[in-house]
Amino acid sequence: MSVLRGMAGWAACAAAVAVCGCRTEKGVAVKMSGAVEPSVVVKPFGKTKDGQLVHLYTLTGAGGVVMDVIDYGGKVVRLYTPDRTGKMTDITLGFNEVAGYETHDKYFGSLIGRYGNRIANGRFTLDGKTYTLPTNNDPGGVPCSLHGGDKGFDAYVWHSEPLSEGRNVGVKFTLTSPDGDQGYPGKLDVTVSYWLTPDNVWRIEYEAVTDKATPVNLTQHLYFNFKGEAEGTILDHELTLFADHITPVDKGLIPTGKLLPVKGTPFDFTTPWEIGRRINADDEQLRFGGGYDHNWVLNSKGGKLAPAAALYERTTGRFLEVWTTEPCIQFYCGNFLTDQVPGKRGKNLCHRGGLALETQHAPDSPNQPGFPSTILRPGQTYKTVTEYRFGVR
Ligand code: BGC
Repeated sequence: MSVLRGMAGWAACAAAVAVCGCRTEKGVAVKMSGAVEPSVVVKPFGKTKDGQLVHLYTLTGAGGVVMDVIDYGGKVVRLYTPDRTGKMTDITLGFNEVAGYETHDKYFGSLIGRYGNRIANGRFTLDGKTYTLPTNNDPGGVPCSLHGGDKGFDAYVWHSEPLSEGRNVGVKFTLTSPDGDQGYPGKLDVTVSYWLTPDNVWRIEYEAVTDKATPVNLTQHLYFNFKGEAEGTILDHELTLFADHITPVDKGLIPTGKLLPVKGTPFDFTTPWEIGRRINADDEQLRFGGGYDHNWVLNSKGGKLAPAAALYERTTGRFLEVWTTEPCIQFYCGNFLTDQVPGKRGKNLCHRGGLALETQHAPDSPNQPGFPSTILRPGQTYKTVTEYRFGVR
């Protein structure tokens, strides 16, 4: 199966797609024969602790990939893809209940906003006015605002509706973040659509409009482990990043504002490297991150859909390409994950039990005049696209 398919098949063919509100008999052995009928099935997924009803959407793509998604944070709870023998395995971290996200880790598989990654000191100045954000994170003892603050977009129940177009199926999430939400200016109307295509592409379309100038940096925080959820670390996965530079950070994981060429460093993934091979190298950046937790500046520089990353796991043959219109990607290898977190199948997770490939603008851009702007102004539309293209080798 090739994954280098560009947009072929997108919006093709007009066969009927089942969109219903009944239960599904989803097994772990969906056939990859091409005969899978694409569907979207909706059912309840419990309630948040403040009593809001959460819905679970099961998207079955015509290519066989199956994804369970909830409208609480747009979180992907389960993601089944085939290995090279066709065996389907859940390759993402998540929880069986809403309480798992509320208790253990709200970012698993989640949409992230209003600002993905960190803003230094929880503060930025825009058009002469200084805004203060909650400081909900302090790596290296330095406070910052992470992933939108105390209640980021990950913690909202979004309005949701099923999508179908030809043999593509999906779910559309919408959210209105009020003026002043977590300290950010402007009412922001956000729409995020997840699509599963017949060629096993998970396509994410992000859109937002605002009524006041505000920083916006939306991303998705899914963790991958191609051997399966709670099946050990991701250190043996082979990663390629189409990027010649990172934005190096200080001990608070805030970019210094410089660009660091990756050539000759453990950050050079321009050719495939096993993640664990150089992770313990004597390198200040690796010490700050506790491993890889950095922003790579893509050679494509954003603006058009282009390759950002590729990931491969030898024993299962699972292979992924990440394409994006964004200029950067955060590769985070789960350095803060621990074995205190229960998995979905009764096994606990572990340190580096998953890795995230978050397409984005650079962290702390609102305070970094040298970085591409993340400011959205009234009258403009924020639009980005990221595709996770699944395959095997
Ligand atoms: C960041 C990490 C952070 C993690 C939280 C990632 O996007 O890069 O530094 O700890 O999110 O889940």
